[in-house]
Amino acid sequence: MKKLLAAALIVAFAASAAFAGAPDSVTMKAKNGNVTFNHKAHSAAGDCKVCHGEGTPAKLTLGKDPAHKLCKGCHETKKAGPTKCGECHKK
Ligand code: HEC
Ligand code: HEC
Ligand code: HEC
Repeated sequence: MKKLLAAALIVAFAASAAFAGAPDSVTMKAKNGNVTFNHKAHSAAGDCKVCHGEGTPAKLTLGKDPAHKLCKGCHETKKAGPTKCGECHKK
C-alpha cells in the first residue's frame, strides 16, 4: 500500500513538473500588431502536442505561416475562435 502511494506521488510530481513554467497568457510579437492568447484556456484539454509537438513542451517559435495554419486552422475547423486579422493582431 505504501509503495502504491509512493508511485502515485511520483506520477503526480512528474505531471506537475511538466506543467511548471507553462504561461497563463502568451504574447507573440508581430509588426502588424502583437498576438495575445490565453495559453491556459488553450491547454486546458491537456493536449500540448497540438501546438508543441512531441516531447516536453518548451519554448515555441512559430512564425507567420505555421502560426496561421495552426491557429486559424483550428479556429476554422472548430468554428470558434478568431479568424480575422484584427481579432488576433492588436495594435
Ligand atoms: C494553442 C497552442 C498551444 C497549446 C495547446 C499549448 N501551448 Fe504552450 N505555448 C504556445 C506558444 C505559441 C508558446 C510560445 C509563446 C512565446 O513565443 O513566447 C507557448 C509557450 C509555452 C511554454 C513557455 C516556454 C518558454 O520558456 O518560453 C511552456 C512551458 C508551455 N508552452 C507549456 C505548455 C503545456 C504544458 C501545454 C499543455 C498543457 C501547452 N503548452 C499547450 C502554444 C500552445
Ligand atoms: C488566429 C490568430 C491570427 C489571425 C486570425 C491572423 N494572424 Fe497573423 N499571425 C498570428 C500569429 C500567432 C503570428 C506569429 C507571430 C510570431 O511568430 O511571433 C502571425 C504573424 C503574422 C505576420 C508576420 C508579422 C511579423 O512581424 O513577422 C503577418 C504579416 C500577419 N500575421 C498578417 C496577418 C493578416 C494580414 C491576417 C488576416 C488575413 C492575419 N495575420 C490573421 C496570428 C493570427
Ligand atoms: C486545437 C484548436 C486551437 C488551436 C490550435 C488554437 N486555438 Fe485559439 N481558440 C480555439 C477555440 C475553440 C477558441 C474559442 C474559445 C471560446 O470561445 O471559449 C479559441 C479562441 C482564441 C482566442 C480568443 C480568446 C482567447 O483565448 O484570447 C484567441 C485570441 C486565440 N484563440 C488565439 C490563438 C492563437 C494565437 C493560436 C496559435 C498559437 C491558437 N489560438 C490556436 C481553438 C484553438
